Amino acid sequence: MKILFVCTGNICRSPLAEGILKNKLKNNNIPAEVDSAGLENFHVGDPPDKRACITAMKHGIDISGHRGRLFVTDDFDHFDKIYIMDSYHYLALTGMSRSDNDLKKTDYTMNAIEPGKNIPVQDPWYDGMNAFETVYEQLDQACEKIADWIRKQI
Ligand code: 4NP
Repeated sequence: MKILFVCTGNICRSPLAEGILKNKLKNNNIPAEVDSAGLENFHVGDPPDKRACITAMKHGIDISGHRGRLFVTDDFDHFDKIYIMDSYHYLALTGMSRSDNDLKKTDYTMNAIEPGKNIPVQDPWYDGMNAFETVYEQLDQACEKIADWIRKQI
């Protein structure tokens, strides 16, 4: 199973989601590939935002080694599931998708908890540490469900 998280800059939400899911899979010996990517090129090659690193560290997860990268069309081929954070990402991937199959792989991350509700994980970039903690809690709950789902696939 190969899972990709996608956000805008690939320095806040999607690297957090990647780190959280990898941690859960490792703790439960569930084999899967997990990666993350962004839709804007402002932070390609950059480490995650310091506030995201600190928030992850508070929960015992080190995401500092991640480097930002752009989503590419080939990601539709490589990954089994592509989890986006908000409606901007869904629209962008709708535009980049080449088929219904590409789009079928794509879903809101929070739909792992409440299917079909399309609840966003809001961009914390302009906010303070509290917003990062809220994002962390949302992603932690979603990744618990995603890890369960992966376990059932193998
Ligand atoms: P992310 O947050 O999409 O969760 O990584 C953002 C980071 C940077 C910017 C926007 C969102 N930016 O405009 O630089």
